[in-house]
Amino acid sequence: MSIKKETTLLEDLNQALAAETLAAFRYLYFSRIASGINSPPLSEMFEEMAEGEWKHAAMVMQRIVQLGGIPVSKPSEWEKRSFHPYNDPPRRGNDLKLIIRDSLKLERSAVEFYQRLAGKTRDSDLITYRLAVDAMVEEAEEEQKLAALLD
Ligand SMILES: [Fe+2]
Repeated sequence: MSIKKETTLLEDLNQALAAETLAAFRYLYFSRIASGINSPPLSEMFEEMAEGEWKHAAMVMQRIVQLGGIPVSKPSEWEKRSFHPYNDPPRRGNDLKLIIRDSLKLERSAVEFYQRLAGKTRDSDLITYRLAVDAMVEEAEEEQKLAALLD
């Protein structure tokens, strides 16, 4: 693998680390602010999703270290480097549909990101490729779960 390619791959992985960290925070936030009649099951779901994103962050961080890179470490960099733009989370905990739609956007963006990463690594780095595919499938499952709530 050329140096340029590796630099790009490490940048991609750091974008993923930043995004996963923010996603974990965001879902934890939703799990705690959600209010209203349907909020208990939703809170539980968001708490599980937060744990899932945190695990993705761990996987990605481990891969960056394995590749000799430096994982993004400054919170101020998370927002700048995330593959998904970070907007303020919806503040009204009783607007569950808004919270779900917001989360759906995040999951779709994650699926697309990991799809691209899988495409880039398929022929050059099977370990990162598998990481990308595993994360992509999990994000797609979450996406499906969220979409079903809006039906
Ligand atoms: Fe994730």
